[in-house]
Amino acid sequence: MSFTVAIDGPAAAGKGTVSKAVAAHFGFAHLDTGLLYRAVGRKVLQGVDAITAAKTLMAEELQAPDLRTQAVAEAASKVAVIPQVRAALVAFQRDFARREGGAVLDGRDIGTVICPEAEVKLFVTASAECRAERRFAELKQSDPELSLATVLSDVRARDARDSERSEAPLKPAGDAVMIDTTTLTIEEAVAQATAVIAAKRPG
Ligand code: CDP
Repeated sequence: MSFTVAIDGPAAAGKGTVSKAVAAHFGFAHLDTGLLYRAVGRKVLQGVDAITAAKTLMAEELQAPDLRTQAVAEAASKVAVIPQVRAALVAFQRDFARREGGAVLDGRDIGTVICPEAEVKLFVTASAECRAERRFAELKQSDPELSLATVLSDVRARDARDSERSEAPLKPAGDAVMIDTTTLTIEEAVAQATAVIAAKRPG
């Protein structure tokens, strides 16, 4: 039996943490769809054409160690506006969503475009300042030169690019449950998500 949980939201809102935790809790498989766009962005930085990179993407490229850098994130949000790049990644995501035993997919357009039929849709968000502080704490170990102001302006630029693009813009599905993590601990955010999923789960 398949059961799809779609989790969307802006950069550093806590989607990844919530997704991993609920997938582990319910024994569902988890796909961070941002990694697909990051892997394409990474190849573009290496000189490959974006559409070619998306069409030829291989599963092992999702394991590359440098996918979490700011440069790759920036490149990802640029390739993500290209309709042919998005189209090339649809089938992989839909197959993953319908796998036996349940799946959690997190991204920007899972509840709206990739899996509009998902049994559960969550939209995880937080203020831009709060998200920048979290991302800064995460990145500063590996990049001591980085400033909070730079991270905040990057978060805002990516929010604008993700929300204003014409193809699959970042927005909550009409039937998504909103979780604002600005004043929540990780445990509280996970507990809210778990309760929504548990209520919709058959049996
Ligand atoms: O972790 P963070 O939210 O910073 O980034 P990510 O989820 O890895 O996504 C990187 C970029 O890929 C985003 O800024 C989006 O532009 C794009 N993306 C997308 O367009 N659609 C998705 N389903 C996932 C990511």
